[in-house]
Amino acid sequence: MIRINPHFAKLASSYLFAEVAKREKKYRAEHPGVEIIKMGIGDVTLPLPSACVKAFRAAVEEMGVEETFRGYSPDYGYDFLQEKIALHDFQERGADIQPDEVFISDGAKSDSANIQEIFAPDAKIAVPDPVYPVYVDSNVIAGRTGAFADGRYQGLVYLDSTAENDFVPVPPAEKVDLIYLCFPNNPTGAVITREALTAWVNYAREHQALIIFDAAYVAFIRDPALPHTIYEIEGARETAVEIRSFSKTAGFTGTRCAYTVIPRECRAFNADNEPVPLHALWSRRQSTKFNGVSYPVQRAAEAVFTPEGQKECRARHDYYLGNAALIRRTFMDLGFRCSGGDHSPYIWVETGGDSWDFFNRLLADAHVICTPGSGFGKCGAGYVRLTAFGNREKLAQGLNNIKKSLSAR
Ligand code: MLT
Repeated sequence: MIRINPHFAKLASSYLFAEVAKREKKYRAEHPGVEIIKMGIGDVTLPLPSACVKAFRAAVEEMGVEETFRGYSPDYGYDFLQEKIALHDFQERGADIQPDEVFISDGAKSDSANIQEIFAPDAKIAVPDPVYPVYVDSNVIAGRTGAFADGRYQGLVYLDSTAENDFVPVPPAEKVDLIYLCFPNNPTGAVITREALTAWVNYAREHQALIIFDAAYVAFIRDPALPHTIYEIEGARETAVEIRSFSKTAGFTGTRCAYTVIPRECRAFNADNEPVPLHALWSRRQSTKFNGVSYPVQRAAEAVFTPEGQKECRARHDYYLGNAALIRRTFMDLGFRCSGGDHSPYIWVETGGDSWDFFNRLLADAHVICTPGSGFGKCGAGYVRLTAFGNREKLAQGLNNIKKSLSAR
């Protein structure tokens, strides 16, 4: 008899963003003609930079000609893209990352969900709370947790990220094996200082642990003193994997391109406590389960690193950060405590009540979709997340609706 993976049954409910979409759909069906303004899921709205479109088109043309046609792309990505990433995203920041340490993929979401496959089934996992749900759910499916009880999975170590610690957790007193960190943070918008990140790398060294560092939002950092990659920190080459994406950087949410960096020294340990390089393990995993990202997409991603591409991407980041400032100002003027939005497209708003109630209220009274903080974890209860990736005019309209409906509270 074929049985299901029993760990699936432990998953608490539907995926957060699917639940939000379901509620939005229901509201639309019940209120035809009402314009809904989306500040929920972090999906971009500005088009691909023209430098990327040009490169994309040229590569598609190449694919239509026998002499320049290409079949399977290399499992780990084309050198032309690996080289640009290593140079511009790392070496220019003083971080020693080589092109063959960059694994090109179709998404930071899939990489952050898949990476746990190369670790022991009984690895002790630490996740921030609130947290991007993918880190948790992928480990639940893999059987690394117990049941969901009282808002948390048994067996996971939750790192409380609250207003008291400026939403930046410190290393736990207990020993854990695998730690997920995301900065600039999704969902709180918090950033991590060099000192705080150094404390995590030192913890990982001391406890033979590993950090999965999700830097999908790095493009929004505006303070040059903040670390832009974990590899700026001494010791991170042995203790950290970094995941990045072109989604929010260059508008690739629908185009799909991302990458994971695994330095040659990066290690986990076998049953005899001997170090095993993760680079070889991830190479093996990818060559079994992944056939690479399409050639035109990789050429489009490469164009991000041209002077024209850089300029266009920067203009997009500035636009979204301008949106973030407007959202934050509106909520602060209404008397809400907010964080994020300075170096991040996310604004984390303390609602003073239940997250889903606030979600329902914003939808009904202001026709605005947000994301309930409680969907990101227990410490997210009482918060909502707003995203700045919308169109400026629509966003201004949504904020006006919010002002009218919430100033009457
Ligand atoms: C979010 O809204 O948190 C993001 O869009 C999720 C993602 O990038 O998968």
